[in-house]
Formats: sequence, C-alpha cells, structure tokens
Amino acid sequence: MSSVPDVADVLEVVAVPDVVGVLGGGRMGVGIAHAFLLAGSRAIILERDDAAAAHAREAFISALLKSVSRGTTNENADALRDRIDVTTDVSAFASAGLVVEAVPEDFALKSSMLQRVEAVLGDDAWLASNTSSLSIDDLAATLSRPERFCGLHFFNPVPSSTLVEIVRGEASLPSLIEAAQGWVEALGKTPITVKNSPGFASSRLGVVIAIEAIRMLEEGVASAEDIDAAMVLGYKFPVGPLRLTDLVGLDVRLGISEYLASTLGSRFEPPALLREKVAEGKLGRKSGEGFFVWADGEA
Ligand SMILES: NC(=O)c1ccc[n+]([C@@H]2O[C@H](COP(=O)([O-])OP(=O)(O)OC[C@H]3O[C@@H](n4cnc5c(N)ncnc54)[C@H](O)[C@@H]3O)[C@@H](O)[C@H]2O)c1
Repeated sequence: MSSVPDVADVLEVVAVPDVVGVLGGGRMGVGIAHAFLLAGSRAIILERDDAAAAHAREAFISALLKSVSRGTTNENADALRDRIDVTTDVSAFASAGLVVEAVPEDFALKSSMLQRVEAVLGDDAWLASNTSSLSIDDLAATLSRPERFCGLHFFNPVPSSTLVEIVRGEASLPSLIEAAQGWVEALGKTPITVKNSPGFASSRLGVVIAIEAIRMLEEGVASAEDIDAAMVLGYKFPVGPLRLTDLVGLDVRLGISEYLASTLGSRFEPPALLREKVAEGKLGRKSGEGFFVWADGEA
C-alpha cells in the first residue's frame, strides 16, 4: 500500500542556505544578512575590525528587533539573535553555504577579500558579490573557482526593495544561477537575471533616464518639478528621475555615468549641469541640496 506523500515530497521547496556569510556589515551587508536570517538562515557578518563589528552588530540587532515588532517574522527576538554572529575572523565562513560580499565599491579591496574568503570556503560553497557596477567577470578572473561565483545585486534599503539582480558571469555555473533565483524568491523578492555587462540592467536604465532629464533641465525644457511630474503622472514612475538622483546622490550617479560612458559610449556622457552641481557640493539629499532643496530629509 502506498503512503500519502509528504507535502515537501510533492512541492519542490527551495530554501536559503543553512549558513550565509556576509562580508562587510555596512548598510547593504546588514540588510542582506537580515533578509537571509528572516528566511531561516544562520547569518554571519565579517567586519574589518572590532569597532566596525560592534557597529554592525548593533545595526543588525536593531533591524531584527524592528522586524519582530512589525510582525514581519513569527520568530521571537531570542531565536533570531541565536542565529547571528558578527566576527572579524574569516575562518567563521568555513561552514557557510553562500557568502555575499558587500564591502565598499573598490575593485582591489573586493578582489583581495573575495580571495581570502574563497580560501576558507568548503568545496560546495557559493560566492557572490553585491557590486553595483564592477565587472563580475573581472572579479571572477581573480578567483580560483570562478564557476562558483556570480553577482547578487540587492537594492537599498534591502528590506523594502523587492528586486534582486542576479548577474551571470561568463564562468558562472547554470546550477548557481538557478539556485540564486530560488534563494531570491525564498527571501520574498523577485530576481531578474542579467548577463555581466556594464551597469547590468538597473543602473544602465536608471542612469540613462536621469541624464536625459538633467539635459532637459539644462536646456530649459521644463522645471525640475515638471520633468519629474512627466514621469510620475505620465508613466507611473514612483519617483521622478531628478528626485531619485537626489536620493541616490549626484556624485554616485556621476561616477556611474562616467563609467558607462567609458565602457558603452558617449551617449552616457554626464551632462555639464551634473558635473557643476557635484563640483559645488550639491550632492542631493545627503548634502541638503541637489536638483531640489532638502530640509530634514524631505524635499
Ligand atoms: N548603498 C547602496 O545604495 C547600494 C546599493 C546596491 C549595492 N551597493 C553596493 O554594496 C556594496 C556595499 O555598499 P554599502 O553602501 O553597504 O557600503 P558601506 O560603506 O555602508 O559598508 C561597507 C562595509 O564594509 C566594511 N569593510 C570595509 N573593508 C572591509 C574588510 N576588509 N573586511 C570586512 N569588512 C570591510 C566596512 O567597515 C563597512 O561596514 C558596494 O559594492 C556598493 O556599491 C550599495
């Protein structure tokens, strides 16, 4: 007599790795670790020194307490706290099934740290980078197992951003990309899969709309408010391109635009107005003024 199959035998249950390491416990690293923790993983953050580790731990605990008080998890704070570890010892990653790198956007730093992490990982572990612009193939070329590496580009703030861009390097194993799609869905987010190329999909499209809006402002086509309203009301963008540039940071957008101009061509050349504002220190919300004036974080 055949027995009734268990639900887990019928449905293919895609789970997050039991242990996820996150390299760098800054804004993105804590968000990524927190997302995997809530999905059931044990989360280990590696920081560069004791002070940075203490800061990351505080941010991590505060994020998990917020999730408990908002009811975004059924687990209690103690159970969640028991599954986190913030350390300065890279050997803690030996048990990780996946490590996501989220140190600052500097190629030399990222490649040297990825190599250090790769050296302690088990043979079956996967490695990913949260880089927003660097080439996954160039980073992979510095690793001994490039086939186990891809891009996992989370958005800021991680808890409320539903998109994750999975960047497929030339060497990335198809089974890694498939697993990554499953992890992202298990986090309650939506994956898009992009071939490694400058600006991936999100930055390339985001920047091209922003720099066209800045050129229109420069040419006096319309006011900043009206250019933004064209996209918000006309095309249902949640935020206009100029306001979004203020939120992201004009310096950040200038950097990406210069990089895309050097790799994809002059259509990405930054408008003079963007360069002028950055030179004047008008960087957007963080400096109090960009295309709009910001007071107390609001334009
Ligand atoms: N902030 C964003 O909006 C955003 C969005 C998407 C992707 N990203 C990408 O995510 C990455 C991290 O960005 P962030 O905004 O979290 O930066 P951040 O500066 O907030 O955090 C970086 C962290 O890395 C730590 N770190 C530096 N060197 C280290 C080392 N050798 N070992 C371990 N830890 C080290 C720092 O102490 C810091 O806590 C970057 O590649 C960035 O491009 C950022």
